[in-house]
Amino acid sequence: MSLSIPHGGSLVNRFNSQYDFSHIKAEVELDDFALSDLKLIANGAFSPLTGFLGEADYERVVNEMRLADGTVWSIPITLPVTKEKADQLTIGEEVKLTVNGTVYGVLELKEVYVPNKTEEAANVYKTTDLAHPGVAKLFARPDVYIAGPITLVKKIEADRFQEFYLDPVETREKFTSLGWNTVVGFQTRNPVHRAHEYIQKSALEIVDGLFLNPLVGETKSDDIPADVRMESYQVLLKNYYPENRVFLAVFPAAMRYAGPREAIFHAMVRKNYGCTHFIVGRDHAGVGDYYGTYDAQLIFRNFTEKELGITPLFFEHSFYCKKCGNMASTKTCPHGKEDRVILSGTKVRQMLSNGEVPPPEFSRKEVVEVLINGLAGKVAQLTK
Ligand code: ADX
Repeated sequence: MSLSIPHGGSLVNRFNSQYDFSHIKAEVELDDFALSDLKLIANGAFSPLTGFLGEADYERVVNEMRLADGTVWSIPITLPVTKEKADQLTIGEEVKLTVNGTVYGVLELKEVYVPNKTEEAANVYKTTDLAHPGVAKLFARPDVYIAGPITLVKKIEADRFQEFYLDPVETREKFTSLGWNTVVGFQTRNPVHRAHEYIQKSALEIVDGLFLNPLVGETKSDDIPADVRMESYQVLLKNYYPENRVFLAVFPAAMRYAGPREAIFHAMVRKNYGCTHFIVGRDHAGVGDYYGTYDAQLIFRNFTEKELGITPLFFEHSFYCKKCGNMASTKTCPHGKEDRVILSGTKVRQMLSNGEVPPPEFSRKEVVEVLINGLAGKVAQLTK
């Protein structure tokens, strides 16, 4: 066995700090979403993408979860601009991609097109309801898409946790240096609670290493902030995981909340980081009641193992059962709901923000301490 082959065959690298953009006049300002997409295209996390999707790729991704050449790809990675901005641009020219006047990238403009956002929402998010955070974001962004290959000309430095920002080339080197042949990727936008720990460790029983890869890009405002989560992951790993069997690095992408489609996308990206396996539990990347509990697992049936190139590991809803005296799942525990410690994400967030401690069967005490202190700090900052 060896680490996975990148999606599409090889890792894309579109970073060039020497790129001369001094002659380029045209300019497009990026939002946080687009900036993180730019970075992840450039560092190969989104391989085989080399730029923002053109119309043929976009249409096939939206309708069939494939790029125009048939490669599996489930989320459209697009660059929206206003109609006024689009009218100022000329096909064939280079465009600077900026944030607050700093040039981060260059786009070779190949196409300008107007998407059907209602269709995009209905297919990608399975709803056109503006109460869905992914759909709301889709419609809040401008209405014209510009497309073409990109070059990242300036690395985006994080203000904290810089050591946890690794490119796919670097995570692959790390896994190899740890002697891992099989690596399971774990996506999360939450603190790691006991149910997460249980499915991670169940997976760890059959693979060499766990790649804990929390998403730290844009999330909805009521999700726990990434910096608080980062501290909670470190304290958990230090106290409860063998050092040489787990590796923590961030996934600096925006959360789409696209449920099943995002599970496929998350798996492809983790394949690029070097993972051979990927965990999909209950309601992966879901929000509200838009998706069925196991839809994000069922969607994998649309693709062959070969074209996915990464093995999904599916887990049932997990919890602590008082009668079993153990963590368990609906697959392994015969007891009833009344014996199970199950708390909703909303309930836990409420408890933590009020300084209340969720039971140890739900979350490790060291994690809870970090979360309560971290969230109290945030509230203090906000009320200053
Ligand atoms: S996600 O939006 O990033 O998917 P979350 O951080 O809650 O959300 O979940 C991380 C992973 O753990 C996902 O694969 C999810 O399906 C899985 N998961 C979360 N909670 C449970 C649970 N209680 N039982 C089984 N799987 C779970």
